[in-house]
Amino acid sequence: MTMVSKIDEGPLPQQVLGPLTRAAIFLVVTVKPDAESYAAVRSFCGDIAGLIRAVEFRDIDAGLTCILGFGSDAWGRLFGDPRPAELHPFREFRAGNRHAMATPGDVLFHIRAGRMDICFELATQIMERIGDAVTVADEVQGFRYFEDRDLIGFVDGTENPRGGVALEAALVGDEDASFAGGSYVMVQKYLHDMKAWNALSTEAQERIIGRKKLSDIELDDAVKPASAHSALTVIVEDGKEVKILRDNMPFGQPGRGEFGTYFIGYCRTPRITELMLENMFVGRPPGNYDRLLDFSKAVTGGLFFAPSATFLDGVGEEEPTAAIAAPSVAAEMDSTAPNRDTSLGIGSLRGERNE
Ligand code: HEM
Repeated sequence: MTMVSKIDEGPLPQQVLGPLTRAAIFLVVTVKPDAESYAAVRSFCGDIAGLIRAVEFRDIDAGLTCILGFGSDAWGRLFGDPRPAELHPFREFRAGNRHAMATPGDVLFHIRAGRMDICFELATQIMERIGDAVTVADEVQGFRYFEDRDLIGFVDGTENPRGGVALEAALVGDEDASFAGGSYVMVQKYLHDMKAWNALSTEAQERIIGRKKLSDIELDDAVKPASAHSALTVIVEDGKEVKILRDNMPFGQPGRGEFGTYFIGYCRTPRITELMLENMFVGRPPGNYDRLLDFSKAVTGGLFFAPSATFLDGVGEEEPTAAIAAPSVAAEMDSTAPNRDTSLGIGSLRGERNE
């Protein structure tokens, strides 16, 4: 019999697999383009776990978590090489009047808790720490609506993977061992044309989503159109369905006629989420697009990499050499650049030599 006292030494993921919550804040910032600002954000990375713990402990039952993700350009400037194998700028899709657009964003904070006040407190503390070093690109307060419905009235999240399947779907494994435990996170902020949506019959709405509105039961294959949202977002590879882990949240301001869904999806590779986007915006086959987009417009788009918590803990303030020499992603990957990893001090985690 093996002893169970041995602690798994693999990198600890951030709380990607955390439960869905009643409240969330999605905060996207860009880092000011000067060395002090990058140093401030780097130094903050090593301290974020402590900051979360301090706010979390004020009401442990609220289940506060916060995930940090970094955009492709910011990764190079903050951490240099090596970089997550598949991290790149948000891939845009455009067809007809549909546009999955890329918008600025260096760091994403996905803050979740059972209550908004504690999310708000953490966001406040984060801005207190790095406010001078960043510019806020977007900030959304999301709330859980009746029966986990989005504002277009459908239950959202039903087919999310759970347990081991969620872990398998969302976290990088041996395919990029240096960044195991990380996750690629895509966000898009959608605004709905509620007047036009509500003018549709319930049956027409159900054909667009692919599920019954009241009962949330999936439409029978015989009546579910190939263009249904829940058909186009099903990706099968080698006979196996490949999933992403979503935590969409409604948001809005009724007084201003703003009704939205903040889409957030975690996956061990951005390729799957991009395929879903392509199916939705361009169509599968092209032209057979997601009619939800006739009523919902994406107004932001970002791809980030959420490294493991172990990685974040090891980040120091010093500038990585590759980042000073070469601010662009292509240049950072220049194989002639000196292979130094002094800033992070976690070379062993990445299976690399630490000077
Ligand atoms: C306007 C924004 C969106 C809304 C309101 C929305 C809403 C929904 C709803 C109501 C469902 C059915 C219930 C469920 O299984 O969760 C669903 C399923 C799903 N959505 Fe979305 N969604 C949006 C955007 C997206 C985007 C951008 C993606 C991916 C890039 C996506 C991926 C998925 C997936 C993978 C499923 C599950 C499909 C299945 O396995 O049946 N959704 N969505």
